[in-house]
Amino acid sequence: MNIHRRRNLSKIILYYYFLVGFVLHFVTTNYGRKQVSTSFGIVRGETVNPEVDDLPAVTQFLGIPYGVAPTGQYRFNMAISAAKWTHQPKDAFLLSNVCIQSGLPKLSETEALKSMSAQKFDHIHRILPFLKPQSEDCLYMNLFVPERLERHKTQYGQQLSVLVLIHGDDYGWGSGNAFNATILSASGQTIVVTLNYRLGVYGFMGRCEQNSCNGNSGLSDVVAALKMLSNILPSFGGDPTSITLMGWGSGASLVSLLMASPITQPKNRLFRRAILLDGTALAPWAMSMHPQQYFMKIAETLDVS
Ligand SMILES: *[C@@H]1O[C@H](CO)[C@@H](O)[C@H](O)[C@H]1NC(C)=O
Repeated sequence: MNIHRRRNLSKIILYYYFLVGFVLHFVTTNYGRKQVSTSFGIVRGETVNPEVDDLPAVTQFLGIPYGVAPTGQYRFNMAISAAKWTHQPKDAFLLSNVCIQSGLPKLSETEALKSMSAQKFDHIHRILPFLKPQSEDCLYMNLFVPERLERHKTQYGQQLSVLVLIHGDDYGWGSGNAFNATILSASGQTIVVTLNYRLGVYGFMGRCEQNSCNGNSGLSDVVAALKMLSNILPSFGGDPTSITLMGWGSGASLVSLLMASPITQPKNRLFRRAILLDGTALAPWAMSMHPQQYFMKIAETLDVS
């Protein structure tokens, strides 16, 4: 009798537990979510408030894959465009992994301040929490899409301009994930895109044969992302003919290389304007004139020569 009652009670508790769980689930999954149908498939983002007075809401689409994971047989190769996901919608609520990080500067303050400015030291401290988890499977981008203000719509028409951020930091570390672009996109009425690209040896090692070298797969990642963007931006209300690339440091060097590449030609133009902050490909640190020696060193270290 007693046992029987207890069983009933636990059944009731279980029942309410599920009911409450279901209601909570329903509330949290349907509040502030938005889905967009693109040529790659449906993608679901989360609408957030930038927490600044008078700024409109922004929908963030986090961790959209733009390239095939460059792992295994694809490691070091040029980026391959991502596969479509037409069979089911993709949830884009969470930031992706960042690419494998290398050469992060020393973080003991006394050591660090000997070799870098206080601003750079602060910058590293601010972004450090975002530089994990790391994975070779890291070719993802984030889109921040603002609600339109009426006055902006009447003045500038239906489509939004787009700003793509190419992060910097020695070709070796950093990630687009460290930059929350909600305020920038809401106040600028611009779609802002942040992205990861391969770093260090994964992205920029020159692979050398007898007389020739090739490499820069990290740069090919950026091109793959731009290709996908020119395809999907209209679905988000963006104008693919009005893309600005903005990079700083080694990111500015990458942008200036892209400015000299065929992707600026009228027929396959993937961006329109560029902003270079604190760097170009002509800077003395920007390029290695003798990549072969580094390739050999790595091969020796790994004992594969
Ligand atoms: C960016 O900031 C907003 C407002 O503080 C927050 O709601 C949102 O989750 C943040 N996005 C990311 C990717 O951290």
